[in-house]
Amino acid sequence: MDTVLSGIRSTGNLHLGNYFGAVKNFIKMQEENNCYFFIADYHSLTTYPTPEDLHNNVKSVLAEYLATGLDPEKSTIYVQSDIPEIPELYLLLNMNAYVGELERTTSFKDKVRTQPNNVNAGLLTYPVLMAADILIHKSHKVPVGKDQEQNLEMARKFAKRFNHMYKVNYFPEPQPYNFGEALVKVPGLDGTGKMGKTAGNGIYLVDDDKSIRKKVMRAVTDSGPTEANSIITEPIQNLFTLMGLVSTPDTVDFFKEKYASCEIRYGDMKKQLAEDIIKFVMPIREKILSIKSNNDYLRKVAEQGAEQARENASKTLREVREIIGFRKF
Ligand code: TYM
Repeated sequence: MDTVLSGIRSTGNLHLGNYFGAVKNFIKMQEENNCYFFIADYHSLTTYPTPEDLHNNVKSVLAEYLATGLDPEKSTIYVQSDIPEIPELYLLLNMNAYVGELERTTSFKDKVRTQPNNVNAGLLTYPVLMAADILIHKSHKVPVGKDQEQNLEMARKFAKRFNHMYKVNYFPEPQPYNFGEALVKVPGLDGTGKMGKTAGNGIYLVDDDKSIRKKVMRAVTDSGPTEANSIITEPIQNLFTLMGLVSTPDTVDFFKEKYASCEIRYGDMKKQLAEDIIKFVMPIREKILSIKSNNDYLRKVAEQGAEQARENASKTLREVREIIGFRKF
């Protein structure tokens, strides 16, 4: 059986991008594989959360994982910072990660551009920590959205380099896992780019009806088609993409036809989209809120997950230390 690993950074609540890009597939994956799903709280430190926010965000993501259908009896669900073997493997992998290659990653270059006054070493070695997350369980498959493709490529590079350096065939080279489909990019509401936590363009699974309506009604559009069957612009295509995720095919076709014949009213389309998002989100939101208030359950799940994850992680680390040459007298 293959080992699958995936993580979500705990920098806020889950949005529709996380859900349709990753979580939806996690639920299917847990039926067929040996799965590890974790909350990347060390990774969230690059954005300096307050201690209260740090804790609360971890708790939210755990409640959201469970509310969307991850089952602690089928998968190992854990918090990254409960597994001290991960930072130790990160230290070891850092010795064979070159500053030049880390500086060349797109996400690091983006950070240098967008926050030149805070280019911390944690950002530079972010892909090494992610590789440690993946390799600690000797994972074969990693489900990711398009945005994480390069980080996964780095993990493969570090696995290969370790094997080569110590002349072993120890770490598998982790492959992307999306059931053979192309990696997904769920768009945001600001007309361009992906839905994200930091961009403020997202709809969260815990959003209430009123804020969903408000956000969708404010989504960027254009001045409308003037010629029959004209090409759909990016902001409108993004609305259609979101509609494709939450609305029925009939609804999507209805608005596509209205667009093609230049009769579309974006206000009507947005109203429909908002109602369909609400219908989709409402039952999940209710589950999240009820699970989040059950602290005993969350503690039990996190403890059980940490114990299972550590058992496997400590075996890997023992073997890695032996391979490297840390031996008892
Ligand atoms: P994060 O927390 O940004 O996102 C978690 C997962 O959601 C996917 N995703 C999206 N997919 C499609 N469209 C979107 N708009 C969208 N936004 C987010 C991401 O691709 C990801 O699958 N570095 C990782 C967390 C991490 C990790 C790991 C992942 C740490 N260690 C090890 C896998 C394996 C991150 O920041 O994801």
